[in-house]
Amino acid sequence: MVVLVTGANGQLGQSLQFIAPNYPELHFVFCASADLDITNAADCEAMFSKINPGFCINAAAYTAVDKAESETEKAHLINVIGAQNLAEVCKKHNTVLLHISTDFVFDGEKNIAYKENDAPNPTGIYGQTKLAGEKAIQEVFENYYIIRTSWVYSQFGNNFMKTMLRLASERDSISVVNDQIGTPTNAVDLADALAKIITSNKKAFGVYNFSNEGQCSWYDFAKKIFEVNNINIDLKSIPTSSFPTPAKRPEFSVLDKTKIKTTFGLEIKDWQDSLKTIKI
Ligand SMILES: NC(=O)c1ccc[n+]([C@@H]2O[C@H](COP(=O)([O-])OP(=O)(O)OC[C@H]3O[C@@H](n4cnc5c(N)ncnc54)[C@H](OP(=O)(O)O)[C@@H]3O)[C@@H](O)[C@H]2O)c1
Repeated sequence: MVVLVTGANGQLGQSLQFIAPNYPELHFVFCASADLDITNAADCEAMFSKINPGFCINAAAYTAVDKAESETEKAHLINVIGAQNLAEVCKKHNTVLLHISTDFVFDGEKNIAYKENDAPNPTGIYGQTKLAGEKAIQEVFENYYIIRTSWVYSQFGNNFMKTMLRLASERDSISVVNDQIGTPTNAVDLADALAKIITSNKKAFGVYNFSNEGQCSWYDFAKKIFEVNNINIDLKSIPTSSFPTPAKRPEFSVLDKTKIKTTFGLEIKDWQDSLKTIKI
């Protein structure tokens, strides 16, 4: 079974490359942005004609949450037109699309975990384009898995964990917000879940949530990152109001994973246990 991965040099793409040897029955074809630009429909068609994938994992995205507020067109092109191009070429070639979306489709006004059918209401351009990308896929065909995830980090690429470790090497003191609650997701666990969905052979298409288990604030996450890496630093807890950003983020974006766990029999690690598995 051929599995095409777009955006293969991003942190999810690299995590998929990392777990690929565990799934010898899957023949992964990894395409970085230079190999396949998902905003170019003709390039997508040429790649699909060449390799004829059974599944396509779209790990390509515009992910710069704050920059999206001023680069609206670019975010729309990649997150909406790119997703739509892939859905159309998947439909034509009878390929199942696994597309990754985000907790930022929600406004964060709830205080219990979000279910897949809770009403989305993104607070910024990034979340709006990711939601529009989901809708674009749903308008084209039905053979999709849209997996919403949150707070993705890993040993690969750029992410909050890497930023904390870098800042700790540069400063004596770090301030991190303590009033945004969510769940970190190890990109390697997400990659593994995607491979398990593919190898399950179920055709249970639809929208699913996936993150690690548990919940915390960004401050708690930073604290655990330093603890796991034996770093002593003056870590200060601050409110979001003391750390203004161009994009407004949801205050609460914990995702309910009941649907993905029961449908595919997935066991999901607690975020703290998964963080400990990372070797930098
Ligand atoms: N990171 C998070 O905290 C987070 C949270 C929730 C959901 N998500 C979702 O999870 C998915 C994976 O995120 P990630 O953290 O792995 O993102 P990432 O590290 O930013 O990787 C995104 C990749 O997409 C590629 N890309 C950009 N434009 C492209 C195009 N036109 N054609 C092909 N590839 C293109 C980028 O390549 P270049 O670098 O060459 O441009 C990059 O390698 C995304 O859908 C994201 O929205 C992420």
